[in-house]
Amino acid sequence: MSTNILSHPLLDHKLALLRSVGTSTKDFRELTNEISMMLAYEALFDAPTVPTVVTTPMGRTRGQLVDSDSFVFVPILRAGLGMMDGVLAVMPNAKFGHIGLERNEETLEPSSYYFKTPRGLENTIACVLDPMLATGGSASAAIAQLKKAGAKKIKLLVMVAAPEGVEKIEQEHPDVDIFAAVLDEYVNNVGYIVPGLGDAGDRIFGTT
Ligand code: PRP
Ligand code: URA
Repeated sequence: MSTNILSHPLLDHKLALLRSVGTSTKDFRELTNEISMMLAYEALFDAPTVPTVVTTPMGRTRGQLVDSDSFVFVPILRAGLGMMDGVLAVMPNAKFGHIGLERNEETLEPSSYYFKTPRGLENTIACVLDPMLATGGSASAAIAQLKKAGAKKIKLLVMVAAPEGVEKIEQEHPDVDIFAAVLDEYVNNVGYIVPGLGDAGDRIFGTT
């Protein structure tokens, strides 16, 4: 397993805009998708491909096509849904599952309210999508549910990770690869990542 914190000036630029309290809902959604596209690009570095032959205007050449059937993307509701269009930009035929989890505001423990994935999970690479990895409780619970449903290879794609969440996933799911756009400082006493970006779900869905 590996923890990959991405590093790129374009990503830093988008993260700075995303974090700003002055960013509109429209811009927040667009930036979330753009960052998600970059996360998917990075996380899919080992995507299985199938050989093909292409006829160009100049002749024939060999090519490789990504086998999109080998992936299932699994947003954690609700904020993970905000990452969906970004993933679709790089893999338009992608299959999706959904996991509904909500943190209890007092205990910060996640409770499950929905789980549905495509058949054949055991033969795919399951990519969990969530903008925020704070205490890690939600991501860890989602990964455990996917494993119970048969997933054998799992990647976790998050925009903002906290050290506490990374440590929890590394301890509880050492077989899972983490891809994060940035590693922040800490989780505060009410469960928010600092400096973070606030409540990702509220900012994506305009529920503040
Ligand atoms: C947020 C976020 C993660 C979770 C991260 O979801 O989208 O799922 O908190 O926190 P954790 O790492 O401490 O578990 P939330 O429960 O607020 O639900 P929402 O997406 O419906 O807003
Ligand atoms: N969930 C969020 O949306 N933001 C945080 O900072 C932590 C958890």
